[in-house]
Amino acid sequence: MSELSFERKAKIAGRTLKNIVLGKPISVSFEITYNCNAKCKHCHLGDYIEEPRLSPEVFARRFVELHPTVAQISGGEPMLRKDLADIIREMRRHDPVAMFVITTNAQNLNEERYLKLREAGIDQFSLSLDYPDERQNEFRRLRKNFEHMSELVPKLVAHGHKDIILACVVQSDNFRDLPKVAELAKEWGVAVNFSTYNSLRTGNTDYLVSSETDLEELGRIVDRLVAMQRDGYSILTSEWTMRQMIRFFRDGRQPGCTAGKRFLIVNPQGTLGPCGLITQYYDSQRQMLREFTKGNECEDCYTSLRVNSEKSLRRLLIDALRVIRQK
Ligand SMILES: C[S@@+](CC[C@H](N)C(=O)[O-])C[C@H]1O[C@@H](n2cnc3c(N)ncnc32)[C@H](O)[C@@H]1O
Repeated sequence: MSELSFERKAKIAGRTLKNIVLGKPISVSFEITYNCNAKCKHCHLGDYIEEPRLSPEVFARRFVELHPTVAQISGGEPMLRKDLADIIREMRRHDPVAMFVITTNAQNLNEERYLKLREAGIDQFSLSLDYPDERQNEFRRLRKNFEHMSELVPKLVAHGHKDIILACVVQSDNFRDLPKVAELAKEWGVAVNFSTYNSLRTGNTDYLVSSETDLEELGRIVDRLVAMQRDGYSILTSEWTMRQMIRFFRDGRQPGCTAGKRFLIVNPQGTLGPCGLITQYYDSQRQMLREFTKGNECEDCYTSLRVNSEKSLRRLLIDALRVIRQK
């Protein structure tokens, strides 16, 4: 984020406020393929899926129509699309302001592709890393994914663009390792964001942090992360969000979902969905607001896509000012 000009940061903040007032989404996730080269234990994707291969123009049309502040390029594994740079370039051509973030497991990322995607318009590369060691490979069923990232990330960082972050899902078998993940991020010279596991994708409740002993320990881990934040570690998740994460695990719910309004997805078919976990599709946001969002009572996730889109106006203003002031 720190590479963006002051003018662009101000425009991003302005669009965010405007979209809230107009009921337009802040964040849209373009899930451009549901195929994936990984088979992560916390995800339902990974098997081959027959799906259409929509042109860059179709995604760009959706992007223009929805006019979000943040466009996430995700999936499945977005790097499986060979025309990925064309999709991003075509979207970017219509909009120099929105923040473009790609979420990837990095297995197919290298320096050449990184530079190409930057040139096409990506502002931030969010690389998924759930463990600070080789457990990553087994969990994602990706050969030497941890070793690949260990080698690649410092090389990308050396380009000096400050556009790499790590995305870590907090779950029962890795929460004790979160300080180590933050240490590793520091060592590699990148920031880290923590998101919260939910069982919607797989039905597997084992990865939820559920026992009282574990929840108390997670509380102490969060205390440590907050202290690390104060010591200058680049942990993007706010203390408030981390405490809410514990609340989500304890209560098994987090009310107030704004899917369809503040955030939504465009799927590989080019239709709209409220989130990647609800298989209801709509032709327009207006239809989705009417037929889904109005009666939505789902409380079953607390992922970053949701969290970051749901900040109160006050919190958004504080964050926008912080972003604008960032050097
Ligand atoms: C579905 S993946 C798609 C992008 C890409 N294949 C990747 O791994 O980054 C997007 C993010 O969702 C996270 N994720 C997958 N299953 C999840 C779950 N059950 N709860 C929370 N986050 C999950 C992944 O770890 C990843 O960071």
